[in-house]
Amino acid sequence: MGSCFGLLARRKEEESHRASGMEISGSVALITGGARGLGRGFAEKLLEKGGKVCLADIDGTEGAKTLQELQATHGADNVHFVVCDVTKDEDFKGAWDSATDKLGPVTLLINNAGVGNEQNWKLTIDVNLGGCIRGTYLALERMGTNKGGPGGTVVNISSIAALRPNPFGPAYAATKSGIVALSRSLGHDFHFKISGVRVQVLCPTLVDTDFLASSLKHVFSPEVAQALPQFSRKLKKITVETVANALIQLLEEGKNGGCMSVEADKEPYYVDASIP
Ligand SMILES: NC(=O)c1ccc[n+]([C@@H]2O[C@H](COP(=O)([O-])OP(=O)(O)OC[C@H]3O[C@@H](n4cnc5c(N)ncnc54)[C@H](O)[C@@H]3O)[C@@H](O)[C@H]2O)c1
Repeated sequence: MGSCFGLLARRKEEESHRASGMEISGSVALITGGARGLGRGFAEKLLEKGGKVCLADIDGTEGAKTLQELQATHGADNVHFVVCDVTKDEDFKGAWDSATDKLGPVTLLINNAGVGNEQNWKLTIDVNLGGCIRGTYLALERMGTNKGGPGGTVVNISSIAALRPNPFGPAYAATKSGIVALSRSLGHDFHFKISGVRVQVLCPTLVDTDFLASSLKHVFSPEVAQALPQFSRKLKKITVETVANALIQLLEEGKNGGCMSVEADKEPYYVDASIP
């Protein structure tokens, strides 16, 4: 009987971890790849909801321009920018320190920086999967309640390419599947009970950003170079705004380990993680 009550209490505790979402107003977010595209869109949405944001990007020129624009709209004290290459441990730590100094303790990390370079697939692994692993581990170190931190949330940006075959970007798809596996594994309540850090993952379909055009410069093969533009023209793109709204839903619902897919003409939906 006692163990039955124990089990129920444990279930209830786990439910509460999943149910209570984060309060965005007053929070401090660090967003990698935040100079443009989705990262910038996430920043704008979080700022609108009263959060503070540090953009971390390898592109200093675009980052400085975006910083100026966001500060003009949302206030100089609420936005910060730091040059950061997510493949480098020291850059990541420096970005975290700089965000904390300028804005306060970081409680949300969005690992968004990504490339789709099939010719330099090692770079694609290092930026996409390496950046997410590096960032998530650092977040556990800096935010983990077991390390004296405040707890918090990590959202890793994957792709629909993680969930379906992607003949046009095999290495890219592999990194995005790895990001889902990483997020589901560290998003297990086993880890949350230790660290108080939620790990979630977002899987958008094709979004209206510069990403596809950049990826087309480094395709897998001449055949892909020929087929991809035609294929992507037929695929309905979604807007940055749609994905940013889905991010807010994911954060506010607070489902630990939640893997949310965002596609055209559908409400965002969770893809179930089958971890017993
Ligand atoms: N656009 C899409 O169709 C789409 C769909 C699904 C998932 N995604 C993912 O969303 C994320 C953002 O994509 P986007 O569409 O905004 O692309 P984007 O190319 O517009 O922006 C990517 C940003 O990442 C930065 N970046 C690249 N390498 C970096 C590094 N080493 N360190 C730090 N920053 C770096 C770039 O400077 C750029 O600002 C990526 O992870 C991408 O894989 C994009």
